[in-house]
Amino acid sequence: MKQLTVALPAGRSYDITISRGILSRCGEEIRKVYGGKEAAVVTDSNVGSLYAKAVIDSLREAGFAVKSVSFPAGEPSKNMETLVKLYDGLLSPYPFPLTRGGLIVALGGGVTGDMAGFAAATLFRGVSFVQIPTTLLAQVDSSVGGKVAVDLKQGKNLAGAFYQPRAVLIDPDTLDTLPDRVFFDGMAEVVKYGLIGDAPLFALLEGCAGRKELSEQIEEIIYRSCDQKRRIVERDEQDTGERMLLNFGHTLGHAYEKLGNYSRYMHGEAVSCGMAAILRIGEAHGLTEPGTAARAEALLSRFGLPTRPDGIPPEALKETLAYDKKSDGGSLTAVFCRDVGEAFLQKMPKAEFAAWALEG
Ligand code: NAD
Ligand code: GLY
Repeated sequence: MKQLTVALPAGRSYDITISRGILSRCGEEIRKVYGGKEAAVVTDSNVGSLYAKAVIDSLREAGFAVKSVSFPAGEPSKNMETLVKLYDGLLSPYPFPLTRGGLIVALGGGVTGDMAGFAAATLFRGVSFVQIPTTLLAQVDSSVGGKVAVDLKQGKNLAGAFYQPRAVLIDPDTLDTLPDRVFFDGMAEVVKYGLIGDAPLFALLEGCAGRKELSEQIEEIIYRSCDQKRRIVERDEQDTGERMLLNFGHTLGHAYEKLGNYSRYMHGEAVSCGMAAILRIGEAHGLTEPGTAARAEALLSRFGLPTRPDGIPPEALKETLAYDKKSDGGSLTAVFCRDVGEAFLQKMPKAEFAAWALEG
């Protein structure tokens, strides 16, 4: 078992516990952080059939009254329509309506965590919630740090909040049921942590030939990733400075995702292309140590991740970057790596970034 504390002001601190089998002990873990009686498990159609019973049984054993609400798996569900259905399910009298003192348990990948977390942030102006992430991406990234959101027709994650969970319970055994593509999609975010701030993690990954070797070291990989994220979140919870480092590869990645209609690339795949591109661009402009891009591309390719997006028309990329939601007027904060393990922020004109992006 490994444990970390995200230390935040005003009672918002919480622990991240990484432990094989914790899913079926989650009731007793949740008891430690939540004194109420009602728990509502929010999950998706895939994860529900695999893991909801173990979670519900454990919560009941710990003395909670439990209800569960499920929605169809996948990013297309992460919208206001599903959110309204979640509120309906949570407030339905069968077997009981969740009240203001109740708890939401988010059981699933990043889509579930983001949407259940947003429901928790908004229902009764905030009920307690716990994250039980079941994809690698959710275990190393989305379950930690309190960003919760749903997508709008105008773009991804546009309606959201900062709302921290009471606890994050990570069971690495749940990764065993992930298809390869979803497992390796999460690896893109792990490679990101190596590149932006953890050269030993990057070297550990370079020593892993494939999923088998990664799985043997998965607790350490999740721990190091969460440790870096929690350090950054502690220093910049509201994403106004250092937290932007976590966006490494994401400005281009989000553009590639959008231009692929959110179906050609999964999030991590698009970020993989974005990281490789920004390293190549950094090298071309003397910001990145020569050879860093090739080293990262070799690792990403070994994990089956793409490093150059297919068929993105340059004009469309330029136009998409002009509307990046994180940009501020005519400029944006770009993230570059000096070397493996060392990232920095650079504010630059959007037009200049777009021109560089076309070279990448
Ligand atoms: P996801 O939740 O859709 O999960 C991917 C697929 O895996 C789904 O079909 C799901 O049903 C299935 N699945 C989940 N766990 C499983 C398991 N253990 N076994 C078998 N199948 C399982 O997607 P994701 O990749 O986990 O997360 C992507 C989402 O996360 C995006 O919406 C993105 O915006 C969000 N995100 C949020 C943050 C944040 O800080 N809040 C950070 C990064 C990404
Ligand atoms: N996923 C980026 C962040 O949490 O800030």
